[in-house]
Amino acid sequence: MTRDPNEPISRDEYEYEIELIRALPKVELHLHLEGAAPPGFIRSMGKQKSIRLDGVFNPDGSYAFRDFPHFLRTYEAATSVLKTPEDYRRLTLAVLEESAANGVVYSECFISPDFCGGGELNAWREYLDAMREASDEAGKSLGITLRGVVTCVRHFGPDQAKRTALCAAETAGDWIVGFGMGGDENRGSQKDFAYSFDMAREAGLALTTHAGEWRGPREVEDAVRDLRVQRIGHGVRAIEDFRLVDNLVEKGFVLEVCPGSNVTLGVYPNLAAHPIEKLRERGVKVTVSTDDPPFFHTAMADEYENLARTFRWDAARFAEIARTSAEAAFCDETTRAAVLKRLGA
Ligand code: HPA
Ligand code: ZN
Repeated sequence: MTRDPNEPISRDEYEYEIELIRALPKVELHLHLEGAAPPGFIRSMGKQKSIRLDGVFNPDGSYAFRDFPHFLRTYEAATSVLKTPEDYRRLTLAVLEESAANGVVYSECFISPDFCGGGELNAWREYLDAMREASDEAGKSLGITLRGVVTCVRHFGPDQAKRTALCAAETAGDWIVGFGMGGDENRGSQKDFAYSFDMAREAGLALTTHAGEWRGPREVEDAVRDLRVQRIGHGVRAIEDFRLVDNLVEKGFVLEVCPGSNVTLGVYPNLAAHPIEKLRERGVKVTVSTDDPPFFHTAMADEYENLARTFRWDAARFAEIARTSAEAAFCDETTRAAVLKRLGA
């Protein structure tokens, strides 16, 4: 139920409601591990290893980028300081501390073997062990559950994606639960990666891909038809084709919507112009995530607050979003039941 916008409410009452909304238990499905690295973490690791990070930071210490292609270059430059499994163990802990502080109880993180050992399987296993160690530790100390979704990088091309898919297939299980694709949506086509997605599906992994962020609704159609994904990263530009929207509703596809990311990168000029509410009203299963939070000056509690203020979403609406997210998580049913319980759903 949404609150009746005509119902009078004092400013203090409204601000109190916002604080309650910020504190709600949350589920995040779209988070790039390296993209969640606090800039201070990357800067100090670069210093320790004497790795130059020219152009990565603004004078105020935040990440520097002008547009999406530049964002991808800054992302990869920042990631270059992460060179060992121990670096990834520390990164995972830092990221989970931030997520837990935002009320996230379950998170699915995109991890690219390309950055963790260059796509080589034995190296990947060592990185994975280190991330799982951090995940177990944070599970105990912070009460947050993490699962991994292996992602290939679209602009690294289909051959490298096959190596990545092999890493995913060989380590699929109770922690690596999905396979996906990030990177530059303007390069190549979804179909170029069908072989890799087929391999991941045959290994029992659930599937997602970035689509309909930079290219329009046809890209979302391609993702669904050519890669047979269950979830779509972003997918927001589906709104430009109502027939496609109806199809997404009918088949129950889930969108991993990252409103702050879309606004910062200029997909939409501001949150009021973002289609998340229109998609939701038409019956699409929308979820809320941060993508690369420090890059986009956001965090899960901020996303909730901004959506509440812009679209007048109340606590019940966010509870519904969190339930949708838990139901769309790629984890096993025991984990899902535990997450739903934490949500009070
Ligand atoms: N979009 C696409 N690819 C990415 C991103 C992103 O936000 N972050 C890291 N790789
Ligand atoms: Zn993303």
